[in-house]
Amino acid sequence: MKFKKKGFDYSLLETTFTVPEDTNFVNWKEVFANENPLVIEIGCGNGHFLTQQALKNPSQNFIGIDLKDYRIVKSRMKENLLNLTNVRWICGEAGASIERMFADKSVEKIYMTFPDPWPKKRHWKHRLFQAHFIPLIAKKLTDNGKFIFISDHEDYYNWCIELIEAQKELAIVSHDYDITMTDSAFGKIWQAEQRSFHSFTLEKVAKE
Ligand SMILES: C[S@@+](CC[C@H](N)C(=O)[O-])C[C@H]1O[C@@H](n2cnc3c(N)ncnc32)[C@H](O)[C@@H]1O
Repeated sequence: MKFKKKGFDYSLLETTFTVPEDTNFVNWKEVFANENPLVIEIGCGNGHFLTQQALKNPSQNFIGIDLKDYRIVKSRMKENLLNLTNVRWICGEAGASIERMFADKSVEKIYMTFPDPWPKKRHWKHRLFQAHFIPLIAKKLTDNGKFIFISDHEDYYNWCIELIEAQKELAIVSHDYDITMTDSAFGKIWQAEQRSFHSFTLEKVAKE
């Protein structure tokens, strides 16, 4: 049996989305009962950043994705404390979730905040941002959609830049970041340690 953390209400997972075996796009308009823009956070951790975004932006719909069930439980506890109605959670692998659960050109913004850096070369294969990830993002973003990345890890940032330079679907439009991204749990820790942050925003390259 899987170890369960004390004080966590695991029943909250019963009303959390999981990843289907095959493509099965969720009708998010029906789920949220409106047509507001969809914003995803990949690897949302304990939901610090996403719940604050949801609170500040009631006319947008937010979806947090994380592999770890106890982190999704923590996120849901925050959602309940704040009485949020514009946020949902997927407990599962981010790439599979995005591929199978979101229609093409349906996502306005995707955030990747402080992903695990996997510093050792033999572990780079575990990094979330990979070459095959770029066409997936390009496919799911709306025409004016954005993918926003932030990390304290310069090597991971440089790895992403190399992958971006090797393709033609998405282009870097900015290296600035929204300071609220450091509201995430890891952002706060790294900020307290006075680490510097590395960020980029990608947009789709218009096809002629
Ligand atoms: C370093 S934490 C950052 C959490 C949060 N974004 C923050 O800034 O506080 C990375 C998170 O990504 C999640 N994660 C790692 N690989 C993932 C994957 N393939 N799909 C979904 N979540 C993933 C981990 O479970 C973890 O919660």
